[in-house]
Amino acid sequence: MNILILGGGGREHALAWAVKQNPKCDRLIVAPGNAGIAAIAECAALDVEDGGAVAEFAAENAVDFVIIGPEAPLVAGVADRLRAAGVSVFGPSAAAARLEASKAFTHEICDAAGVPAAGYARFSDREAARAYVAAQGAPIVIKADGLAAGKGVIVAEDEETALGAVDEMFAGVFGAAGAEVVIEEFMEGEEASFFVLCDGTDALPVGTAQDYKRVGEGDSGPNTGGMGAYSPAPVLTEALQAQVMEEIIRPTLAEMAARGTPFQGVLYAGLMIRDDRARLVEYNVRFGDPECQVLMMRLGAQALDLMQAAAEGRLREVRVNWADDHAITVIMAARGYPGAYEKGSVIGGLDNLPEDSAHMVFHAGTVEQDGRIIAAGGRVLAVTARAGSLARAHARAYEMVARISWPEGFFRSDIGWRALKG
Ligand code: AMP
Ligand code: GLY
Repeated sequence: MNILILGGGGREHALAWAVKQNPKCDRLIVAPGNAGIAAIAECAALDVEDGGAVAEFAAENAVDFVIIGPEAPLVAGVADRLRAAGVSVFGPSAAAARLEASKAFTHEICDAAGVPAAGYARFSDREAARAYVAAQGAPIVIKADGLAAGKGVIVAEDEETALGAVDEMFAGVFGAAGAEVVIEEFMEGEEASFFVLCDGTDALPVGTAQDYKRVGEGDSGPNTGGMGAYSPAPVLTEALQAQVMEEIIRPTLAEMAARGTPFQGVLYAGLMIRDDRARLVEYNVRFGDPECQVLMMRLGAQALDLMQAAAEGRLREVRVNWADDHAITVIMAARGYPGAYEKGSVIGGLDNLPEDSAHMVFHAGTVEQDGRIIAAGGRVLAVTARAGSLARAHARAYEMVARISWPEGFFRSDIGWRALKG
């Protein structure tokens, strides 16, 4: 089989690494890829948000199966375009990708399906939004309706911050994404992520994870795309997972199917857990980054079979072959991230690290120059390890981090603490 993966981050390196281990994979192309991916697959320069260009590339290269990593091509309808051209694709239609692209749409689906989520109101008028904030008081959560690269959510501890966020959004700080604003009840609890493959009808859980969004130790400083993650998330017990499937995932899929826009791909449910019950915080329509790195580390080669079964409507026929294992990933980022940072520093020490089924350094923002690996992004490496216990996986990941020599980079030394302390 010839397989094309769209994307070039740590998530796509992990997807490529898992897919490549499956004997069904003959040729693996990743567009655009990165320096780490180039070691295991062909990288192709391609505008992954241009459905026509991707479909043409797939035809020219006799691609049998496409896996779409990031949300942007999904929201742009690249999966629709490929399916129309007869190519098998893992990833939702643009219509189903609205579960990530519009927070108001997700609330509409949750209301219709009775899914437990935050109380909310939506506004397209600044004064009405301000009046609502004043009436509700703080803490309160202000969200730009559309995609804002993870920056369109302000959890406001006080009314002044909330009003400031409302003003900014209506002033166009997030462009069209902020033309509509969703204001939510602040939910307290512990956050965890739940990943399910979906084939339009059936759903198959493929793992739980917790990620570390803040840049600094002890969850301090600004939010990032994620500084580390581990799987499984012990807070999502079997009983809670059953509740999430019953009250959140299945009703959502049924509602999407009833509207003629069935969801196929991976549904990533961000959950808030309190008093042994989960409520939905948000949906994403793709794997998380870096959550994908720990999920792929645990699933390995079978990930390809599972994603293919989802794409072909055969999820009912497959099972996940679970090992009793734990995986953790530690992000190494360029100093300054998530603010301004420099590109171009050299990363040393990558050559003598173990790279096997239990240890991998997944690359995110890297390029190769004259045989050297150069930092070319904010999040640069995802140092990932798997073991029989979280404590052992944690020790191995940090041993690898210590062997990487990159003075211009930094990492959090407390990834996993929430689960390790318990
Ligand atoms: P989202 O992009 O919607 O996941 O929001 C980003 C982060 O903001 C979440 O991971 C939560 O930590 C926080 N958040 C979003 N909505 C709420 C809410 N209604 N209550 C509490 N925290 C929230
Ligand atoms: N790590 C969070 C995300 O991928 O959305």
